[in-house]
Amino acid sequence: MKLSGKVAAITGAARGIGKACAKRFLDDGVKVVISDVDAEGLAATAAELARPDALRTIVGNVAKRADVDQLVATAAKEFGRLDIMVNNAGVARNRDILEISEEEFDEIIGINLKGAFFGVQAAAKQMIAQGGGGVIINMSSVNALLAIPALATYAMSKGGMKQLTSVAAVALAPHNIRVVAVGPGTILTDMVASSIYTSEDARKTVMSRTPAGRGGEPSEVASVVAFLASDDASYITGQTIYPDGGRLVLNYTVPVKEK
Ligand SMILES: NC(=O)c1ccc[n+]([C@@H]2O[C@H](COP(=O)([O-])OP(=O)(O)OC[C@H]3O[C@@H](n4cnc5c(N)ncnc54)[C@H](O)[C@@H]3O)[C@@H](O)[C@H]2O)c1
Repeated sequence: MKLSGKVAAITGAARGIGKACAKRFLDDGVKVVISDVDAEGLAATAAELARPDALRTIVGNVAKRADVDQLVATAAKEFGRLDIMVNNAGVARNRDILEISEEEFDEIIGINLKGAFFGVQAAAKQMIAQGGGGVIINMSSVNALLAIPALATYAMSKGGMKQLTSVAAVALAPHNIRVVAVGPGTILTDMVASSIYTSEDARKTVMSRTPAGRGGEPSEVASVVAFLASDDASYITGQTIYPDGGRLVLNYTVPVKEK
């Protein structure tokens, strides 16, 4: 297995894409520390994954630098090092752009963008301290490039993450640390259920912009993360890879014929 023996940390892994990444890494022989603000969900996920030999959990809020530092410190303490950091935690809030308060702007940018920045810093410091090398993967979105009017703060945060990934890749290349991002289209998680599939009409609109004719599975994002974390991607840095069922290359819409 290509990732066997590596150590990874994943934020926002109590459910959804982060949880799928944890499962994939464990299946690939990686030792994993997962964190989330949702203590109950985190404990339930650890129980479900049932890998006490290779899995640790730590409750934390990525918007707080000390919590992100603590996640990285836990990987180093429990498993001796950190090879892969997945800055996955993220939130989306539907709001008319004219109604977004300063508090909500700070909250979304604080979690999605500042949280990922803290993750880049903390992981890179650990990777440099252990002699260099490693991969940092930011969970972006097609909304880094596309715009949905009701998701302004989300789009701004993911657009910022694109540049976070670029600049960190260039800054950390001398330490042999690759920094990449994954930008999913519509993936069937709780986030989509609560913020995107708000009605049957909304779901059909999404499908009309999805040539693949279906939403993606979290495991289909985790497999891209596993590839990027591996040496098969050794010459990829600074880029965002988009597992999006064809959304970004589509002009106009497709007829909705669901699979
Ligand atoms: N589902 C999609 O269609 C989709 C598409 C593109 C990008 N993404 C991105 O993928 C990532 C995961 O999304 P998901 O669909 O699995 O969402 P999700 O809502 O199912 O899971 C997100 C997890 O992050 C946790 N979280 C929220 N705020 C946190 C904080 N401040 N600190 C730590 N953890 C926190 C939540 O408790 C939850 O467990 C997000 O960054 C999201 O923007 C998702």
